[in-house]
This record gives sequence, structure tokens and C-alpha cells, in this order.
Amino acid sequence: MNSYLNIDHVCITFPTDKGPLNVLNDVDLRVDESEFISLIGHSGCGKSTVLNIVAGLLQASEGGVLLENKEVREPGPDRAVVFQNHSLLPWLSVYDNVRLAVDQVFKRTKSKAERDAWTRHNLELVHMSHALDRKPDEISGGMKQRVGIARALAMEPKVLLMDEPFGALDSLTRTHMQDSLMEIQAELKNTVIMITHDVDEAVLLSDRIIMMTNGPSATIGEILHIDLERPRDRLALAEDPAYNHYRAEVVRFLHERHVGHGSKKQDEQQAPKADAQASVDSDDAAEPKAGLRLAG
Ligand SMILES: Nc1ncnc2c1ncn2[C@@H]1O[C@H](COP(=O)(O)OP(=O)(O)OP(=O)(O)O)[C@@H](O)[C@H]1O
Ligand SMILES: [Mg+2]
Repeated sequence: MNSYLNIDHVCITFPTDKGPLNVLNDVDLRVDESEFISLIGHSGCGKSTVLNIVAGLLQASEGGVLLENKEVREPGPDRAVVFQNHSLLPWLSVYDNVRLAVDQVFKRTKSKAERDAWTRHNLELVHMSHALDRKPDEISGGMKQRVGIARALAMEPKVLLMDEPFGALDSLTRTHMQDSLMEIQAELKNTVIMITHDVDEAVLLSDRIIMMTNGPSATIGEILHIDLERPRDRLALAEDPAYNHYRAEVVRFLHERHVGHGSKKQDEQQAPKADAQASVDSDDAAEPKAGLRLAG
């Protein structure tokens, strides 16, 4: 079937000390151009593994990924990744971190002056023009994350892959970043796959939320279409019955624990008690949240 991005019956098995570990089983998804997809699921189920396969950083054991009908075999500038722990080069300034990527991608197609302007333009998009000369250790975590996003956007990727991009940020900065990302995506029409543990973030930003079952052998459990008009306003949506319905659907899915291999009893033992913040924390989240904590 023709589609923009085709995650085609992907399975992956890792060799481990205890024998082969089947992490993903038959993950199958078609993504349209300009679509905003969120991946949500319990810690350790395999979300980052899916993203890494799309990025070309990991090879599927079975199935594969096609972007515009071309098989993905290795990383490429058509798929930019934003990791949770921003991966800026510490010895380069904010400007140079972005410029390096711009030079790599546009060496042959843009002049030096154009590359300079393009670097500045993308840093302006994320409101970082005031700190071009600062080094990563001289700016805050939220600012580093913005530079990482500017760097990814500046590569004009066909697909933007984001692994919990705002997970380590305080809630005010996260709110601001979510709003900026919605604005940028509305303007640039990027195709986005974003992993998140935050239910509200998933509903606010996505066209579809892909909810993954628990591992091992994780797969897509349910897909939720978010049919809310854009631009979306978080304050207005807080009162919107449709928004709250979508939110409740995601929370329900996560609480039901789609355990492929566990018994019901095991399910009950592991079920979370409360949904204080409607988020599923990952093992390595920088800010452990009160409330819901789901083991992977
Ligand atoms: N290279 C590897 N070798 C062996 N096992 C791996 C490898 N990479 C990932 N895994 C295992 O695959 C499973 C899924 O890992 P992954 O990082 O994709 O989960 P995740 O859903 O992103 O979790 P989190 O929400 O905590 O980030 C885990 O059990 C992990 O230990
Ligand atoms: Mg992960």
C-alpha cells in the first residue's frame, strides 16, 4: 500500500544473556505527510526502539520502514531526531551547533550567506536569537532543548522524530515548548512522530495517538484519532468534552494494561493506583512525578 511513511510489520529481537528478547512484534502503521503522531505506552514497552528503527539507527529483524516508498536502512537528514537528553556538542556555541547541521545538509545547495541566514532563522523560530554565542553549559535545560529542536528543524527533515522531547522540562517551559511546536508544525507542515509519557501533551498535539501494549513482544494496542480543530488552545480545551473524552480514553488504555503474556492477577498487582498527573513516567525521567508510576 502506498503511504508517506510506512512502518511495515516491524519485529525486532535482541540477543541478551538470557537468550533472544523479542521486543517488538508486528508493529504496523501508515503515517500521512504532515501528520502528527504520538506514541504512548508503559516504560520499557519499546517506544524508543520503534523510533530508532524509523531513524535508521536500528534494523528491524522482520519487516521494515519505507519513507516515500524507499526503504530506510541507515540514518539520514530526511529523518531528524530530537532526543530527550538534548545532544548538543558542548564545545560549540548555540549558533554553531545548528550551523554544523545546516552545513552538513545544505553544503551544496545553499551559499555561505544563505546557510548563515537559515541558521539564524531556525534559532529565531524557537526564540533563541538572544543566546547565539552561548555554550550549552551556559543555558538552561529548556533552552538546550529548543536548540536541539531548531537544529532538527533546520535540516528540513521529511520526518521529525522526537523521543520525550519535553520530558525533563519544568511544566511552564514544557507548556511553552508545546505551544511553539504546534505553531511551527502548523507553519512548516512537518510529519512528526513524538514519544511522550504525558497524556495531555499527546491529546493536545496529535492527530493520532498510537497506544502500545506492554512488552515483551509489544505491538500497537489501540489507535485514537484526535479530531479537534486546529489551532488548539489548551485553556479552551480544558473545558471541552471531546478533549476530556480523548484524554480519558488514553488513561483508560494505560490503566487496563494490555499485558500480552501476563495473568490477570499480575495485571492487578501492577495496576497503578492513581492518575494524579495523567502521565506515565519513564525509568530515566529527570523529574520523578508524584502519582502514576508504571513499571516497564
Ligand atoms: N540493544 C538492546 N539489547 C537488548 N535489549 C534492548 C536493547 N534496546 C532495547 N532493549 C530492550 O527493549 C525494551 C524496550 O526498550 P525501549 O527503550 O524501546 O522502551 P521504551 O518504551 O522507550 O521505554 P521508556 O518509556 O522507559 O523510555 C526494553 O526491555 C529494553 O531493555
Ligand atoms: Mg524510551
